[in-house]
Amino acid sequence: MIEDTGCRGARITGAGYYVPDLVLTNFDFEKIVDTSDEWIVTRSGIRERHMASKDQASSDMAYEASCSALRDAGVQGSDLDLIVVGTVTPDMPFPSTACLLQDRLGAAGAAAFDVNAACSGFIYALTVAQSMVSAGKAQKALVLGVETLTRITDYTDRSTCVLFGDGSGAVVLEPCPRGEGIIGTFMRSDGSKPELLYLPAGGSRKPITAERINNRETFVRMKGDGLFKLAVRMMVEASEFVLNKANMKSSDLNYLIPHQANIRIIKGVKKRLHLSDEQVIVNIDRMGNTSSASIPIAFGEARRKGIFKKGDKILMVTFGGGLTWGAVLFEY
Ligand code: ACO
Repeated sequence: MIEDTGCRGARITGAGYYVPDLVLTNFDFEKIVDTSDEWIVTRSGIRERHMASKDQASSDMAYEASCSALRDAGVQGSDLDLIVVGTVTPDMPFPSTACLLQDRLGAAGAAAFDVNAACSGFIYALTVAQSMVSAGKAQKALVLGVETLTRITDYTDRSTCVLFGDGSGAVVLEPCPRGEGIIGTFMRSDGSKPELLYLPAGGSRKPITAERINNRETFVRMKGDGLFKLAVRMMVEASEFVLNKANMKSSDLNYLIPHQANIRIIKGVKKRLHLSDEQVIVNIDRMGNTSSASIPIAFGEARRKGIFKKGDKILMVTFGGGLTWGAVLFEY
């Protein structure tokens, strides 16, 4: 957990997102696995998701989202002194996706690193960057969530393949007077249940072998029902923690931007926080679950539509593999 003890504030001054052109609908999946549009919509709320082309990697999507966020903030790549990327689907184990991005953005004076916190990657990355900007260790930070989940999705497993999509979202973070911008943050983890969501092979425990490829161990495995039960509870816990710390109630919120994993999880959180449909930003129907990219994509889309107004209190909240969960509360 990070206490907000910085000597100055940090605020989001720009946002952008990118999703690939290729769209897979539920009807496309009816041709691939034994499923139906009706099952997918009822159980998850997803109607379509975007898929990266064969020659598109995470850093390519991250670059597009970054250019859009930098333009929005009026900041040059060369102005950046920090780049933090949340991802579990980097271009390669190393160099980090953040380092690849640093070069393409011409950010010669920037430190750059990735954060692996699964679906909580963006919230963790934003919290780390906020801490550094508040502490005076960074002046202009670029924070991203990016995923090419379709590369680690098993298209023979109907329980997972219908859920995931690709994309990237980015924000620029700059200093502001203390008390403005980001008001509160929360991060938690529980590593005792890795089997709920994991990628078995490809690391030092189980290097890739022909046998592991044949066993489909290079693809995501998920126990959806186990995660489902925890997700609502953890996301409500994270939300209430940051609200309490800020002496606020959920009734003080203008908008909630939840991780887009399942519409039923989103509705559960909405109900427990006593929010209306209009207060909750939802795009899972068009994006599917893009893991660490889901919150910055949803934020970037809503910002571009002009939904938010100055002074709005916005809460981003997430839950994902690890297990990890967290929240960021800020004034727009
Ligand atoms: N089409 C048709 N039937 C299916 C499909 C499908 N695509 N997938 C599973 N089924 C079947 C199952 O085989 C099962 O059949 P059975 O009863 O004959 O065994 C039945 O549907 C019910 O399966 P469940 O897994 O119990 O379905 P559930 O209602 O739990 O929905 C889902 C599955 C959508 C994955 C849900 O559990 C979920 O969203 N879980 C949360 C995931 C989550 O929180 N992720 C967030 C963190 S992780 C991240 O975001 C990357």
